[in-house]
This record gives sequence, C-alpha cells and structure tokens, in this order.
Amino acid sequence: MALKHKSWAEPFKIKMVEPLKMTTLPYRQEKIKEAGYNTFLLRSEDVYIDLLTDSGTNAMSDYQWAGMMMGDESYAGSKNYYNLEANVQKIYGYKYLVPTHQGRGAEHLLSRALIKPGQYVAGNMYFTTTREHQELAGGIFVDVIIDEAHIPEISMPFKGNIDIEKYERLIKEKGAENIAYITVGAPVNMAGGQPVSMANMKELSAISKKNGIKVVLDATRNMENAYFIQQREEGYANIPIAEIHKEFCSLSDAATMSGKKDLIVNIGGFVALNDWDIFEELRSQVVVYEGLHTYGGLAGRDMEAMSRGMEEAIQDDYMASRVRQVEYFWNLLDDAGIPIVRPSGGHAVFIDARKFYDHIPQTQFPAQKLAADLYVENGVRTMERGIVSAGRNKVTGENNTPKLELVRCTFPRRVYTQAHLDVTAEGIIDLYEKRHQMKGLKMVYEPKQLRFFQARFEEV
Ligand code: F0G
Repeated sequence: MALKHKSWAEPFKIKMVEPLKMTTLPYRQEKIKEAGYNTFLLRSEDVYIDLLTDSGTNAMSDYQWAGMMMGDESYAGSKNYYNLEANVQKIYGYKYLVPTHQGRGAEHLLSRALIKPGQYVAGNMYFTTTREHQELAGGIFVDVIIDEAHIPEISMPFKGNIDIEKYERLIKEKGAENIAYITVGAPVNMAGGQPVSMANMKELSAISKKNGIKVVLDATRNMENAYFIQQREEGYANIPIAEIHKEFCSLSDAATMSGKKDLIVNIGGFVALNDWDIFEELRSQVVVYEGLHTYGGLAGRDMEAMSRGMEEAIQDDYMASRVRQVEYFWNLLDDAGIPIVRPSGGHAVFIDARKFYDHIPQTQFPAQKLAADLYVENGVRTMERGIVSAGRNKVTGENNTPKLELVRCTFPRRVYTQAHLDVTAEGIIDLYEKRHQMKGLKMVYEPKQLRFFQARFEEV
C-alpha cells in the first residue's frame, strides 16, 4: 500500500535513557487531590509522560554535554560568554548581549529600562511573565493580535499576526510618545503556538519606525517561527531557516530570549539589542538583579550549552523533525474528532476545553479540570491555559475572562518517542468518550501573582 504522507524521522538517536515510574489509577487520583488539582503542584516522579512545558525540559546532545565540561567558571570575562556573544551576533544578528538566568530575567530588565509608568505596551496576545513584568514596571498592556487568534476553530497560516489596524488605532488614540514599545511573540504561545508572517513583521516594523516606537521581539521560539515561514509563506520555500530567522530578527530593535525553548537547554536566557545606550542601562541593571554582565545568573557551562544548542537548533533537519512531531500528535487528535486549536502550531497542541467540557462553565475552570483529569487518566501531565492563567485585571481586581480556555500538551525537544505520543492521544480520546461524567472545580487558594503556578482547587 502506498503511504498517504511522506514520513519523517529524527536526525539523531538515543544514547542515554531515564526510566519512568508507572503508576495506578487510584494512586494518581490521590496525588491530584493532594496537588489541589493543579498539575504544577504534582511531583514530577509521579508523572509518566510530562507535557507540562517545553521549557528547560529538553534533551541536550553529546556536543552540548561536551561543552558543559568546557565551562570557564571565572567570575568575570568567561570564555563561554564570548562564545555565546559570537553566536548571538552570527545567528540572531544583534550587536550586544546581556545574559540572564532565563527569559523572565530578560523581560524584567528590558521592561524596567524601556517603560515609563503609565505608558502603553502593545503586543500580539500576552505571555504571562512578559505582561507581568510590563505591568510591574508601570506599563499598560494592550493586545493587538488579529481577532481570529482568539477563535480555536479558525484555521489560517499566520494566526499570530498583529492586526495592523488595531496597532495604528492605538498609536492614533494614545500618541506614539505614550507607547513604550511593541512586543512581538513569534510564534504566539498563548494563541496555540501560531506563527507570525514575515510580511506582517515587515509592515509593523515600518509603522513602528515611522512613529519612533521600538519593536521588541520575544524570540523564545523564533526559530520555530522561521520554519513556519519557510513552509507557509510565499517566496521562502527554498531559504534555510537560519536566513529567515535572521531576517526576522533584523526587523526588530531588541529581543528577549528564553533559551530554555529554542536553544535546547535546561536553563538560560538573554537580552540582545543594537542600541548602545539601552545596552549600557541593561548592563548596569543586570549586576543588581542577575549577576555580572558576563554571566547574568548562569554558570559558564550553561552559557556554553546554550551557545552550542543555538548552532544545533538552527539546522533545517532538526527543526523540521521538531515541528513535525507536534504536527503528528495534532493529526492523531484531529482524526479522532477532539476539539483542538487549528491549525497545528509550533511547540504544543492545545485542546479546546470549552468544547471538550461543554457542560462545565468557565467559572468552574474547565481547562484546569481537564488537565487534572488527563493526569488521572494515564499519568500524562499537561497545563491549563485559560481563566486561571489569565489572572485578574490589575486595576479592577476582576477575573480576566479570556476567550481561549485551553489545555496545552507541550513537547519537550528530543525527549519523547512517537509511541509516547500514541499513548497520550489514546488517553485523551478515552477521556473524551466519558467527558460528561466529569465535574468542575472551585478555587480554594489564590496567590497574588501568576496564580496558575500555585493555586489550589477542589471539585464542586
Ligand atoms: N516568552 C514566552 C513566549 C514563553 O513561552 C516563556 C516561557 C517566556 C517568555 C519566559 O521564559 O520561562 O525562561 O522565564 N514559557 C514557559 C512555558 C514557562 O511553559 O510556556 P522563562
């Protein structure tokens, strides 16, 4: 029989393994109750397949591990910092580098440097830590993503795009001088890993330049975004993602980066930029909050692993296998009729919990409960991305009520096999068949900031 689709496989093989604990249904029922129905509060040893996040959960290569042995652990001027700087200049194209312990360290520094209290910050949907730091610095976040991004069932190639009209309206209404900058996340995590097109980036970059507004790229998964441009945007089919990625970065003034994603490491991040004055400001702040400007909270070995990860992540074959693994899982769920965000995105597959649990109102946290129930079903850990993650309005104190009420199945890089994906999909399909037996939750403990990490729930 002829195969319908041309298959793919990973351009690497397994050299070391980590055994997983197999658990029983009663054991998992007890553990999720103990964890207050919050998958962040489970112990990882009680998890079979961990799809909580792709952040820092990646498998490093022998080349990266060899680099760990080459750590220059000097307090100042580590050799590994200069290796990282050279690779950032070569692969991202920015002039200056400030390393940080992870992405939110970078967001903290840049938000403090660029936002004056009361200024607006535009962005294509929000990311939790990014918006939190913008608000802590006194900024007011304004979402300027296209409307379609908020609707799971709409399928379009670049569903993470900025709505240019919304952006121009914001500039007109508030005045360019009152807009600190625009953050472009590409792909957009909270929208389902949906990419941003080069054409859109060019347009918003030109408008920003004309109005003197800085463009800050959240480059966390920008290499995945480059893969989507190569696959989906006219004119890019035969261009290596290395070139596409660099062109995309060149349309921004600065980037914040969580190396724990694209760069296939367990810890690390940075800010990279072209403006000397802002660089000076960041360099003086990093020593207060992270560490000296040549290590920023990282060990020398961590910087080396990140620098080498960068060289590996930008390879076309690697990135194709990364994104196509996610697409494989997306197809399994789609074929079974599970409601998911369309089309397939970069790092994760997002289940539409509003539709999956259509009998549970948003006030009873359907996505939170679905993530808990999936763990009980077969030991797979996922994450809520809905009303709990959205938190409260900083001014009114009311719950933000996002249109998207999702559960994210996120794929660590180079960690799980296709068989792991098959088993995970079967668990989701089994739960879907008995979904109407499941109940909602009430929140019994709510932390003040980024509540989704530590909130506790009980069944209603
Ligand atoms: N920006 C994006 C788009 C992210 O997805 C993350 C982290 C950050 C910034 C912050 O980086 O964790 O290194 O401080 N996302 C993780 C996730 C936590 O699970 O999606 P960090």
